[in-house]
Parts: sequence; structure tokens; C-alpha cells
Amino acid sequence: MKDMIRINDPCIGKEEIEAVEEVLKSGILTDKSGMGPRVLELERNYSKYVGVKHSVAVSNGTAALHAALLAADVQPDDEVVLPSFTFVATANAVLLTGAKPIFADIDKDTYCIKAENIEGLLSRKTKAIIAVDIYGLPTDLDPILEMAHEHDSVVIEDAAQSHGAMYKGRTTGSMADMTCFSFYGAKNMTTGEGGMVTTNDDDYISALRMIRTHGEERPYWVTRLGCNYRMTEIQAAIGKVQLEKLPSFLEKRRRNAEMMTQQLSTSGRLVVPREPEGVKHSWYLYTVRLRGANAGKRNKIVERLESKGIAAAVYYETPVHMQPLYRDSIGSKKKALPETEKAARQVFSLPIHPKVSPEDVTYIAENVRKVTG
Ligand SMILES: Cc1ncc(COP(=O)(O)O)c(C=O)c1O
Repeated sequence: MKDMIRINDPCIGKEEIEAVEEVLKSGILTDKSGMGPRVLELERNYSKYVGVKHSVAVSNGTAALHAALLAADVQPDDEVVLPSFTFVATANAVLLTGAKPIFADIDKDTYCIKAENIEGLLSRKTKAIIAVDIYGLPTDLDPILEMAHEHDSVVIEDAAQSHGAMYKGRTTGSMADMTCFSFYGAKNMTTGEGGMVTTNDDDYISALRMIRTHGEERPYWVTRLGCNYRMTEIQAAIGKVQLEKLPSFLEKRRRNAEMMTQQLSTSGRLVVPREPEGVKHSWYLYTVRLRGANAGKRNKIVERLESKGIAAAVYYETPVHMQPLYRDSIGSKKKALPETEKAARQVFSLPIHPKVSPEDVTYIAENVRKVTG
């Protein structure tokens, strides 16, 4: 039997191993202000790659989101508009500030939130909007930025899945007021666990640097609430190598995604992912929709693919507003977000990460066509 083709698989080579060894031998494992030499170098390189003024490295993507919300001064009485069709971390970061998450429905084709679905949800209490680049496809950000700024709200982009994606010629991380990335093991580039916040705003950057280390303005002098969200030197050393490799990882993902689309687009049962005009996907996940299906039918297909050695997966079967925590804490209800709930019943993702070979793509596509018949 064929080895399981995993949905994502980190690409770690001898360069990362050597970089970690160097840190261990140096004896500088971390820095009390979160600004060790390798962290600073990763931040500089990341800013250059993204085309943004500042980057702040943190311990993970959830920390990046929480720190960005704190830097935006989101308070317990505020509201934050965001999609429910996302990994729960996006919404949990809002709950951690004490603010109320207000869920906007997604666009049926991109699975991202859109300005027209946000408009009616804005209120005097709306402090921020979080746009999630789901599966690695950048959100249509310009109309959201315009609406938010007219309304005095901050736009935070959750780009945990969209490293290196492009929107109207700009790289994700250079457009929103603040952008949050994750370097979790499955992501397009990884540091094991890790994250980054990027911004062009000098005030946000000094707030973020303080929040990363307990709100210290200087050592042992605390002027605002923060946490230990520091990135270690080991994480940063891995990140520097991974960032250099990111363009080649993204090229392989793109090659696989294009091949997959060629081989699946004739299937009448499936809606394949498309890049809107002027947008470049990062292809973190290649997600198809099974037309007219319910969750049971979709889940059987995923199981049949698994039995063929293909680790297809569902992101996200239970949207955040239907999670028990959110039903209980903010009283969110089923049927509130029709496109979100429909997508949650019908989508599944296929492996296209850099370790997936062209032969694997053909094998996956053949089996998908067979099981969706
Ligand atoms: C959309 C989204 N937001 C936030 C996160 C949180 O990142 P992390 O797992 O690094 O905390 C993730 C990743 O896991 C994610 O996919």
C-alpha cells in the first residue's frame, strides 16, 4: 500500500538543522526583551520580503492576533467583526481581550469575508475587523480598509495561511493596519511554533514590542498589559532558512495546484478553487466544494480517499459560531451564516504541499474523480 500522502508536511533540510545547532552552540537561546540577534535578523528579512516597514516576531500565530488586538487597544466593551469560517484561534484571540466577536458571512466563491457582508454589522462599538485569508487566498481588502477607516476601525489581516500571497501587486502583510502570520509546523513556512505581526505604523510597532514582553517599556518597568509572546532564537534560526526557501515552496504549491485544477475542472461534481483577477493564492490548502452535498456525503468521500492513502481533510467542519463555547458565551445560533454553514458541509482539501510530486497529483486527482463519480 502507498504511504499516506499527508495534507501538509514540513520541508526541513540540513540547513535548518545546522542553523539550530549553531544556536545551541552559541549559548544564546532567547533574549529577555524578545530581541535576540536571530530574531532581529528574521524580522528585518521578513519586512523586506513582505515590503513593509516593521515586523515583530512572536511565539505563535494566536499570540500575533492577540498582540495585534491589544495594540489596537481593543477593550472588553468593544466589538470585533470577523469570519466564523476560520480556525478558532482568530475568534479566541478576540475573546481573550474580553471584546465581543461579531461574525460576518463569507463570499461563496472565495470563502473570505467581503465588505458588503460587514457593512450592516458595524456599530459604534466596532473597534476592529479581522479579515482571514482562508486557505491562503487574500481577502478583497481595499473595500474593507476603506469602510473600516471611515468608521474609525482598525483592520487586522489574519494571514496565518497566506505567506507570500499577492493582492493587486502587493504581498500580504503590507496592506492592512496590522497583519498576523503563523509559522506553525503545517504552514507554508515554519518555525515549529511561531508567528509574526507586520505593520507600517510606528505606534503599533512600539506597542507590539512591549506587549510581546509583559508590557515592559524598559526592563522591569511595565506600562501596559502584555504577555510572554517572545520568539526563541532557535525558532528564529529555523525561520531565517525557511524564509529563504519560501519562494521555492510556493512555486511547488502553485505547480501542484495548477495541475490539480487541470485534472479536476472537468468534473461536474466539484467546484475547484480559482484566483480572482489581480490576486495570487499562496496555495496553503487546495480546497474543493462538492456541489449539492451534505456533510455526510462529503465525509464519506474524505474517508474513501483516506483508504487510498490520500489524507484529504475538512477545514472547517464546525464554524466558530457553532462551537459550544461561542453558542454559550455569545449566544450565536445555527443558520445565522448561510454561506459559512453551506461551505462547512461541502468543502474538503487535498494535499498539494511541496513534497507532493506531479505523479502524486495525478494519483490524487484520479482517485478524487473516481470517488466523486
Ligand atoms: C487562520 C488561522 N488563524 C490563526 C492561526 C493560529 O496560529 P497558531 O497555530 O500559530 O497559533 C492559524 C493556524 O493554526 C490559522 O490557520
